[in-house]
Amino acid sequence: MQIILLGTAAGGAVPQWNCWCPTCRAARADPARVHPRSQSSIAVSPDGIRWFLINASPDVRHQLARLAGRGPARDDSVRHVPIEGVLLTDAELDHSLGIVLLREARTLAVYATDATVHILEHDSRVLPTTRAFATVTVTPLPIGRALPLRDRTGAACGLTAEAFVVAGDSPRFASEESPGHTVGLIVRDTTTGSSVAYVPGCGALDEALASRLRAADAVLFDGTFWQDDELSALGISPASAREMGHVPISGTGGSLAMMAALPARIRIYTHINNSNPILDEHSAARAAVNAAGVVVGDDGMTITV
Ligand code: MLT
Ligand code: MN
Ligand code: ZN
Repeated sequence: MQIILLGTAAGGAVPQWNCWCPTCRAARADPARVHPRSQSSIAVSPDGIRWFLINASPDVRHQLARLAGRGPARDDSVRHVPIEGVLLTDAELDHSLGIVLLREARTLAVYATDATVHILEHDSRVLPTTRAFATVTVTPLPIGRALPLRDRTGAACGLTAEAFVVAGDSPRFASEESPGHTVGLIVRDTTTGSSVAYVPGCGALDEALASRLRAADAVLFDGTFWQDDELSALGISPASAREMGHVPISGTGGSLAMMAALPARIRIYTHINNSNPILDEHSAARAAVNAAGVVVGDDGMTITV
């Protein structure tokens, strides 16, 4: 199974259009030191030809260019949709607005939990809006059961996805809070048995989560904030990281201790907010993540498990 990190930033990307925090300033002035990043999404493939998006970000158009070269099967084909489907971990705008932007696809397959589908149907109306342009099929993602992923011909493609509930907040525009509004996904290659865990948003850690992640060959985890009071220290927002549904990396109960202890060969932080000092190649925070054997995700990274 191949995985491309299409985007590794949290909502707003890096630099964020209206932000002049130290990292956003550095991303503009010295992009070799703070690499600009697009909003979080990955592409997974069993064969390097058929790709599934996990989350569809507002940056999806330029992100899909990373899949170029795998164009139409026939040279005289005019249109070709280079993805088989879109899986969602939640209905946040940074993970779902890209569905609307894929409206030129005549058909689009979306996999999401019932809770996320409800928000997309009735609150953000991402699905009804997209359906004005394309046929959107929705496959409910069950919680705790692996579901085969099908390609555009309807054939099982050798990957399964299993959703598991993680702590988090419903999107602030959701009219109700139902279980399953925020999940992590385990994508498994049914031929090799290898798996990747994708958890771009997680508000709290517990043993059940750690035990799931211990079984994965690659773990891509919520790296939104370095510290709990990151935004208040910058004068951006009074809300703590945990109050925003993101466990911080550092400190007591932070995710770095958990990530450092995982057996996975590949451990990567993604969904990194533009305020996070791990983005600075020369920061102490970056050095601490590196020392733990964890990688700070960057757009375009490719991994094979
Ligand atoms: C989040 O990750 O908490 C949300 O995407 C926040 C947002 O961008 O509105
Ligand atoms: Mn987000
Ligand atoms: Zn910023």
